[in-house]
Amino acid sequence: MRFKVNFPVEIFFGEGEADHIGEIAKKYGKTAFAVIDPFLKGSAVEERVERKLTEAGVEAVPFYEVVPNPTVELIDKGAEMVRNGNYDMVIAIGGGSSIDTGKAIALLATNEGSCWEYTERLGANVVRPKVKGLPLISVPTTAGTGSEATPYAVINNPAIHQKCTIVSPMVFPVASIVDPELMMTMPPALTALTGVDAFSHAFESYINVNAHPFSEMVALESIKRFAGNIVEAVKNGSDIKARREMALACTFGGMAIAHAGTTVPHALGQPLSGLTNAPHGGTIAACLPEVVEWTLPVAAEKFAVVAEILDPSLKTESVNQKASRLPLILENLFKEIGADVTFGGYGLKEDEIEGFADTVYTSFQLDLKGHPKVATREDIIYLIRQCM
Ligand SMILES: NC(=O)c1ccc[n+]([C@@H]2O[C@H](COP(=O)([O-])OP(=O)(O)OC[C@H]3O[C@@H](n4cnc5c(N)ncnc54)[C@H](O)[C@@H]3O)[C@@H](O)[C@H]2O)c1
Ligand SMILES: [Fe+2]
Repeated sequence: MRFKVNFPVEIFFGEGEADHIGEIAKKYGKTAFAVIDPFLKGSAVEERVERKLTEAGVEAVPFYEVVPNPTVELIDKGAEMVRNGNYDMVIAIGGGSSIDTGKAIALLATNEGSCWEYTERLGANVVRPKVKGLPLISVPTTAGTGSEATPYAVINNPAIHQKCTIVSPMVFPVASIVDPELMMTMPPALTALTGVDAFSHAFESYINVNAHPFSEMVALESIKRFAGNIVEAVKNGSDIKARREMALACTFGGMAIAHAGTTVPHALGQPLSGLTNAPHGGTIAACLPEVVEWTLPVAAEKFAVVAEILDPSLKTESVNQKASRLPLILENLFKEIGADVTFGGYGLKEDEIEGFADTVYTSFQLDLKGHPKVATREDIIYLIRQCM
């Protein structure tokens, strides 16, 4: 067995940790380009962060132009502002879309061209970053993407209905501040869909053919925390323990995909957002039970482990019995938290299925190859139909 662990991010975890942003940022200079999720504009959190930065002698220039499924246009616009300014670092505060916007801007600050040229696209001429970007400090406000702990930045190109990812160790933040208090304002639907994303990262990396003891360890820790806390976090958003545990589930899920990658659910989900602008976590919730059902009996041992974590009453059943229960366990859980969504509900049309399957099959081979069961183009079409 051979594997490598590379995790070059300082993670500061805990309630109130965002108050230390000044001390952390001042190590990197005096001027920050601050990508701030628009939901924070004018909020007490924004005011507090700004004050802590000022007290530490760091001037932050805010940039609020972030949209869910962040676009090439807005990222390139932010990058141009940084190139024309005099910035020492980028700070990104918000959901995964804000963090990915910050990651791409930080990279483009020192590398020329458009962010789209750096995304992985099969058969296309992908530009690899030549030098490190500006240091990036990420401060997540959702518990889903794990972007605070990954070398990925996912970018949407609405002009061609595609969503692709920059994959490079140079995309890792230098530091991430994970403060569960910042996640308390998430409404139930957002908590549910982002929570499913966190779970799916852990799950997909756990069953991934590239899994190894380190990625499996963090993935299982993530899954345990998701299992014990997602319902409470959705139903009682002011429960700080549930928020804390979901924040850990998210960061551990990010660490897990940083080391072992995602599989078929992300191969289906990411291009669906490119096509329909559906929220990322929703695209995953819409296909995860179906993908598990289709994968069985392959990976039964690992499915059994996950099924028992989600439903400890299965303890005495056989491996195959436990594994076969997983699709329904997920379906019921997603119903309970209001994440029972479908591809059709997100706007995918019957006559778009073939073209959508081609995109999945050609552009997401890396994810498909990580899945424990080989997916043919026909399998992809079958799965998409199941998710409608
Ligand atoms: N880089 C990675 O490793 C990685 C991994 C998975 C997904 N992603 C990408 O991240 C993006 C999704 O990020 P996301 O799921 O965090 O959602 P998001 O960042 O798109 O945010 C969704 C909405 O929630 C709002 N919001 C954020 N935090 C809030 C809070 N605390 N309270 C109230 N509202 C809040 C935002 O303003 C936005 O309107 C997608 O583009 C997805 O592809 C990236
Ligand atoms: Fe994801």
